[in-house]
Amino acid sequence: MTNPNLADAPPVVVSQPHELRDVIALARHAGKRIGLVPTMGALHAGHLSLADASAAECGLTVVTIFVNPTQFGAGEDFDRYPRTLERDLELLAGHGVDVVFAPSRESIYRPGHATRVEVDRVSAEFEGRCRPGHFSGVATIVLKLLQLAAPDVAYFGQKDFQQCAVIRRMVEDLDVPGVVHMLPTVREPDGLAMSSRNAYLSPAERQQALGVIEALRSAAAMVAAGERAAEPIIRTMRERLRAAGLGPIDYAALVEPRELGPIQTVTGPTLALIATHAGLTRLIDNLLFGLHGEELDSAAIL
Ligand code: PAF
Repeated sequence: MTNPNLADAPPVVVSQPHELRDVIALARHAGKRIGLVPTMGALHAGHLSLADASAAECGLTVVTIFVNPTQFGAGEDFDRYPRTLERDLELLAGHGVDVVFAPSRESIYRPGHATRVEVDRVSAEFEGRCRPGHFSGVATIVLKLLQLAAPDVAYFGQKDFQQCAVIRRMVEDLDVPGVVHMLPTVREPDGLAMSSRNAYLSPAERQQALGVIEALRSAAAMVAAGERAAEPIIRTMRERLRAAGLGPIDYAALVEPRELGPIQTVTGPTLALIATHAGLTRLIDNLLFGLHGEELDSAAIL
């Protein structure tokens, strides 16, 4: 939602790393707190909620728009990933964004680039197993953006829960200044998690996709009803996905939310994670809930 309290001035768009550094240096000199919202564009209300949070907490908000090639595997959707810069800039108006950094591939991965960041353990399962090299590409680009913008706070959405966990691990392990905030997933009124890839869904697939949040909510409902064993809960999630016509199922799992380790029994805050397909479109989503099946805010427990 557009924030009426924020000036409607369009953000300044910069495309060169040195230009970004210059704007940041000026803002720092003026004593401003810097907020960074890394995105791949094709913005939706989820991204805008991150921009709003940054604008509320920081004196300068930078949104980055870069479809990062190194986090896509062979045969994935890098070529057809939606690139909608003009529309993205329009959407950002009124959300307090000061700067949009929209670099070219060449200005980010300069000739001779040979470094990749690997984050072990937390990136091993789930998305890491299904998309080999994905988290290395994510960690590499996010570290580069954190180096360029040196933000006080970087904002990410809970929809990519494992991505947030990987980035937090990297920031801690490599002593990167600043903090990582994970904000709640923004959903359509019917529960579908907002995603740039929802644009790929046909009307029939869009309907099927609701099976993902239904499966996640069925897990929370079983816990609310007193079920503690992970196995029947996971079985039910898989049944719900199949009943909705979704598949193949890459994973449907219950984990503890800190290290994303698998659990046999629900004993505390639990994260249900799903990755599946509606037609050719891959869908991921997750739900964090407590022992009474109540939805939890990740910020409160992590
Ligand atoms: O979540 C995304 O859009 C991307 O993975 C990110 C964090 C912008 C890195 O390219």
